[in-house]
Amino acid sequence: MEVDRRAFFATLGSAAVVSRLPDEEKAEALEHYMTDLLDQQTTTNELVVRRGAGDLFGAPGASGSGTPRPLRKLEPMPEKPTLLDFFKYRFAPATHVLQSATDALRKGEKEELVLACLMHDVVLNLIKVDHGWWGAQMIEPYVSEKVSWAIRHHQALRFYPDSSVGYEYPELYTRIFGKDYVPEPYIKKTYDYARNHKWYMEARMITVHDLYAFQPDMKVSMDPFVDIIGRHFKQPKEGLGFDGSPTAHMWRSMIFPDHPL
Ligand SMILES: [Fe+2]
Ligand SMILES: [Fe+2]
Repeated sequence: MEVDRRAFFATLGSAAVVSRLPDEEKAEALEHYMTDLLDQQTTTNELVVRRGAGDLFGAPGASGSGTPRPLRKLEPMPEKPTLLDFFKYRFAPATHVLQSATDALRKGEKEELVLACLMHDVVLNLIKVDHGWWGAQMIEPYVSEKVSWAIRHHQALRFYPDSSVGYEYPELYTRIFGKDYVPEPYIKKTYDYARNHKWYMEARMITVHDLYAFQPDMKVSMDPFVDIIGRHFKQPKEGLGFDGSPTAHMWRSMIFPDHPL
């Protein structure tokens, strides 16, 4: 097996660190390195990261090209992180959700719906597959049932038009999913259920404001949402991730995305 010496040493750290390592440790590191290399060479998976992985974990771009995006450097988070800290240190620039919440605010939606728009896709930082369910679950302990219900169901609703509110199947999905894409049975079933639910419009309006939230020149800021978060998001005093809630581990995974286990 060919081993690129420079690439190998780069995995160990700076030249100063490498020079201090005992030979035995270097040998062991080399063995690990070669095992990994061998695994990579014997699998035919072209993707380095699966498409369902979240942005903080090197998710490929939304276009479906499969090419992982460069990972950005992450700052450590405050000891008792608030939702605003997550927006600042982990979700930023969060342009899409900020645009969608801004659109909702401008069009006079109720505060809870504005919050739902603001939160509807933030879980994409953690995981992409089934993001409606994951996203709803993650914030469930901290918001009203209506807000998490809306987020859970927007995932299925976005594939089905509703002319009463001007929602058509987005062109973007044709690009991502292909033009002959038929939603899976569980999505159809969820849509049928949500369509007849008393909160249908809450989830539907997330998909509507979603459409106005991919605009390269729309300026957004967190400021208009600070008070809305204060009124409708129950910030735990121990900090998100450390309050022992059933979803604290999801927040922690975003605080410490580099923990190996
Ligand atoms: Fe979404
Ligand atoms: Fe969205």
